[in-house]
Amino acid sequence: MWLPLALVLLAADALAVKRHDFKTCEQSGFCKRGRALAARAKAASSTWKSPYSVDASSVAISAQKSSFTASVVSSLYPEIKFELEVRAHDDGTFRVRMDEVDGLRKRYDETAKWALIREPTLSDAISWKQTKKEIKATNPKSGVEFRVQFAPLRIALSRNGKEEVVLNGNGLLHMEHFRLKDEPSPEQPPVENQEGEEQVVMEPPVKPNAWFEGDQPPQWEESFGGQTDTKPKGPESLSLDISFPGHGHLYGLPEHATRMDLPTTTGENAKYKDPYRLYNLDVFEYEADSEMALYGAVPLVHAHSTHSTVGVFNAIGSETWVDVDHPTSDSTETHWISESGIMDVFFLPGPTPDDVFMQYARLTGTPALPRHFALAYHQCRWNYISSTDVREVQARFDQDDIPFDVLWLDIAYAPNHKYFIWDEKTFPDPVDMFNDVAAFGRKMVVIIDPHLKKDTTYPVYKSASEKGLLVKPASGSGEYDGWCWPGSSAWVDYFNPASWDWWQGLFKIEGNNGDFHWRQSTTDVFIWNDMNEPSVFNGPEITMPKTNIHHGGWEHRDVHNINGMLFQNATAQAVMHRTDPPQRPFVLSRAFFPGSQRLGAIWTGDNLGTWEHMAIGIPMVLSNGIAGMTFSGADVGGFFGNPDPEMLTRWYQVGAFAPFFRAHAHIDTKRREPYLLDEPFKSIIRDVIRLRYSLLPVWYTAFRQASVSGIPVLRPQYTVFPHDPKGFSLDEQYYIGSSGLLVKPVTAPGIAETEIYLAEAQPYYNYFTAKIYRGKRSGTNVTVPATLYQVPLLIRGGSIIPTRERPRRSSALMARDPFTLRIALDASEQAEGELYLDDGNSYEYEKGHLVWRKFTASKVAKGPLKITSEDMAALQGGKNVVDGVDVVPFGSQAPNAFRDAVQGVRVENVLVYGLKSRPTKVSVGGAEIEWEFTEGAAAKSSSEGTATILRIRDPAVKIVNDWSIEVAF
Ligand SMILES: *[C@@H]1O[C@H](CO)[C@@H](O)[C@H](O)[C@H]1NC(C)=O
Ligand SMILES: *[C@@H]1O[C@H](CO)[C@@H](O)[C@H](O)[C@H]1NC(C)=O
Repeated sequence: MWLPLALVLLAADALAVKRHDFKTCEQSGFCKRGRALAARAKAASSTWKSPYSVDASSVAISAQKSSFTASVVSSLYPEIKFELEVRAHDDGTFRVRMDEVDGLRKRYDETAKWALIREPTLSDAISWKQTKKEIKATNPKSGVEFRVQFAPLRIALSRNGKEEVVLNGNGLLHMEHFRLKDEPSPEQPPVENQEGEEQVVMEPPVKPNAWFEGDQPPQWEESFGGQTDTKPKGPESLSLDISFPGHGHLYGLPEHATRMDLPTTTGENAKYKDPYRLYNLDVFEYEADSEMALYGAVPLVHAHSTHSTVGVFNAIGSETWVDVDHPTSDSTETHWISESGIMDVFFLPGPTPDDVFMQYARLTGTPALPRHFALAYHQCRWNYISSTDVREVQARFDQDDIPFDVLWLDIAYAPNHKYFIWDEKTFPDPVDMFNDVAAFGRKMVVIIDPHLKKDTTYPVYKSASEKGLLVKPASGSGEYDGWCWPGSSAWVDYFNPASWDWWQGLFKIEGNNGDFHWRQSTTDVFIWNDMNEPSVFNGPEITMPKTNIHHGGWEHRDVHNINGMLFQNATAQAVMHRTDPPQRPFVLSRAFFPGSQRLGAIWTGDNLGTWEHMAIGIPMVLSNGIAGMTFSGADVGGFFGNPDPEMLTRWYQVGAFAPFFRAHAHIDTKRREPYLLDEPFKSIIRDVIRLRYSLLPVWYTAFRQASVSGIPVLRPQYTVFPHDPKGFSLDEQYYIGSSGLLVKPVTAPGIAETEIYLAEAQPYYNYFTAKIYRGKRSGTNVTVPATLYQVPLLIRGGSIIPTRERPRRSSALMARDPFTLRIALDASEQAEGELYLDDGNSYEYEKGHLVWRKFTASKVAKGPLKITSEDMAALQGGKNVVDGVDVVPFGSQAPNAFRDAVQGVRVENVLVYGLKSRPTKVSVGGAEIEWEFTEGAAAKSSSEGTATILRIRDPAVKIVNDWSIEVAF
C-alpha cells in the first residue's frame, strides 16, 4: 500500500506512476557509465578488446581438480589485481567469482551466503586442463565444456562444440577498483548530475581507461530528487556481458511488469528505453508495461532455444540494471551493471527448462511446501476495520455459501501503526475474534511491517533500540530515522543474527519471558510482511539511503535487494517456532530475492484495477515462477480503483488459476466482497471460487512437486514443449503442475471465445463439457468458448485429475471429503495422474506421514480398460523421489498417521472421457458396479464434439488403498 489518499479517488485510468520519483539509467551514475561503455564497445566493435586478462602463470588448480584460482589484471590499471575463482559442481553447474585483491576496501561478498541453501558440492569427476592460452574442463556426465580463455579473459560454456553461454565475449567486463577520492580522474573532473540534463555526447576519449569510466560522472557524489548519496566508498560498480549464442528467448529476471519472453531494451528495436532495473522499490501505481524496478529482484535468466535451455544466476544484491538485446532472432545478449559487490556468477547448463529449474533449486532451495489453507481463497481489504466487521464479513460469505479460508487485517488494527498492538476500541477481543473465525477451520493473516514507530512507549521499538538491533545512519552510530506509516520510524537490521531470536520472541504466544510478546494472538494467525523493500516515504526513491549502515559495517547499497528477504525469513522462523514441534508458517512478503521461495508467498504489489493490469499479472506470475518464486499471485480486483462487475468477475477467474489467490483493495475503493455483487456476477464468482476449492488436490500436488524439484507450479507452454518454437512467447496460457490442466484466463472485456494453442497431436477436453479439441503435431489454435461464466480450461488427453467436489465453507472442512477422478484418455487410450496429500500443517510429511498415489488408466487393443491406484512410495522403491530429486526415504510399511487418519476417504465418482465404445461391464475385484455411458466422440478418432463419458458412481474404493477397476467391452 502507499500514501496519497486523495489521489486514489480519481478514476483508475487517470492514475499513473510518478516516474520522476524513480531514477532512469541516465540518472544513475554507475548505470550511465555502464551503458556508455557498452555504447563505445559497440561503436568500436571490430577493434574493441577487453582489457582484462588472466595471468597464465598464476593458475592454481585445487587438489581435487574441480576448481582453480588465477590472477586477473586489467591493462587499464596494471597495478590493481583481481582474483578469479572457477568451480565445477557435482550437478554440472559452474561458478565464477572475481574480487579485487588487497583493495583499498573490501567488496561485499556475502550475497551468496544469503541466497544459497549451502555451498554446492564440488564435482569429483572434473579435472581442469591448462594450456598456454586457456584452461578448460568437460563434465563427463553432461558433456558440457567450460573454458576460460586468458587474453582477453573470456569464459564460455559449450555443448557439442557450440558455445551456449559466453561471459565477457563483448568485452564489457569491468570491476571498478576502490580508489581514493583525490585520485585524479583520468579525463574530465566529475560534474553534478542534474535531473533532466542532456545526455553527454560520447566522443572517443584519448586514454583507454577513460573509455571505461573516466569521463562518466558522477562517481563520488550523486543527487537525485533533492537527496544526495555521498558515496563514501566511491565508485565500485561491476559491469558484465553475458551472451547466449543460438538462444533467441530470454525469461526470468523478475520483477517487472512485462511479457514473459523479455522484450529488448537496447539496440535498434528496443521496446524499452532503459535496462531492466533490479532494485526493490515501492512503486506507487506502477505501469502495466515497463522495464522499471518493482518490489522484488531475482538476477536469474533462462535463455531458451529449440535445442537447449541454459541459465545464469548472478548472485548480486546491490542495485543492478540489465540490458537485453537480440542481435539476431536466435541469439541474446545481456549486459549487467551492478553498483557494488563481487562477481559471483553461476552457469546453469540445462539442457531442458526443467533441468535449469532443478539446478537453480539445488543452489537456492526449492519453494517451501505451503500450508494447505494457503492455497485456498484469501479475502483481504485495507481495511476490515473492527472485530465486528470481521465477524460480519465472515457471516456474509457463509450466508451466500461462498467459501473462503483466510481473512486479512491490514494496517488499521494497530493504533498509530504500532504492529502487534491492538486498537482497543475497534479490536477489543482479538483472541475471541480469531477463535470465531477459526471455528470454521479458517485462519487470519495480520500485517506486521518492518518500520517501527519511534516511540519509547512502544515496547517493540524500545526493546530493539535498547538491544542495538536497528539500522544505523551513514555516520555508523545511532538509529536511522525515516518516515513511514507511523511517522518517524526505525528499522530492525535483520542482517544482525542477534535480531532473529529477538524477533522470534515477539511471536511467542504462551509464557512470559519478561519482555513484550504477542499474547493477543493464536496459532491460527499468520503474517503479512509488506513495505519491506524497504519503503521509506521520505527516503531516496521511497526507500532507504544507500549510505545507511548494516551489521558488519556494510552499506545498505551492498545489500538493498537482500534486505526484504531477511525480514520475511525472520518472520517465517518466528511463526514456525510458535509451537513445538514447529508448524509450517505462512508469511506473505512484497519484497523478494533468490532464496525467498524457501520462505513463503509473494504478490505482485499494488496493481491497478484495469484490464491491462489484469492481463500483465499473468506473465508476471509466470516470470516469478521461472525465477523460483512460484507461490505468487496478483491482487484480485486490482488494489486501486473500482473494477466494474465484469472486470471483477474475470479477475476472480484469473486469481483462481494463480498459485496465490487473494482479493485485496485500497482503503478508498468501494467494498467489493463477492457477496456484494448482483447476479449473475455473484454466482459466477461463487462458482469459480468453488472450482478453486474442488481443484485444491491438483494445486497441492503441484506445490508438492515444486517443493521437491523447483519446477514451478505454473508451467508456461515452452517448459512443457521446449522444442516447439510456436510456444516460446506464449504467456497467456499455462499448465498447472504436471496435472495436464491447461488454462487461459480471459483478461479483456466483452469476450465470448478465445484461442488456445495446442502443440501436440492429442485430444484436449473442455473441463466443464468434455468437448474434444484436437491438437496437431505441427501446433494449432482451437477456439474455446469464453463468455463471462466460462473459464477456458482444458484437460490434456492422457491426464487424470483428482478433485473434491462438495462445496464447503473452508478447505479445512473438506479434509475427509471423497474424491472424483476425471480420466481424460489420450489418442492411445491411456492416462495417468498423481495425488499428494498430507496433514497440510506440520512437518510430519518429512517422516513419511503422507498419501501419495499414482493413478493409471490403460487400455490394450480389444482388451479391457484398467484403472488402477498405486502407492507412489512403493513405486519409487521406498524412496521419496519426485522429478529425479531424492527427498526423504520412506516405506509403505512405515508408520503413517496421516494415512490412518484418512483411510475411510472414498473415491465417489470416476469419469472417463473418450472411450471408443460402450462397455459391457464395470467391476472392482470381480464385483460388478454401477455405471452409465453417454455416446460421443472417441479420443482415438478424429471426430469433433463432446467426448463419450463413462460415469462410474461410488466404486467403493478408498483413496489410500491400491485398487483396480476393470472396464470390459
Ligand atoms: C533465516 O533464519 C535462520 C534461522 O533464524 C538462519 O539460520 C538463516 O541464515 C536465515 N536465512 C536468511 C536467508 O535470512
Ligand atoms: C494462435 O493464436 C494466437 C492469438 O491468440 C496467435 O498469436 C498465434 O499466432 C496463433 N498460432 C497459430 C499456430 O495459429
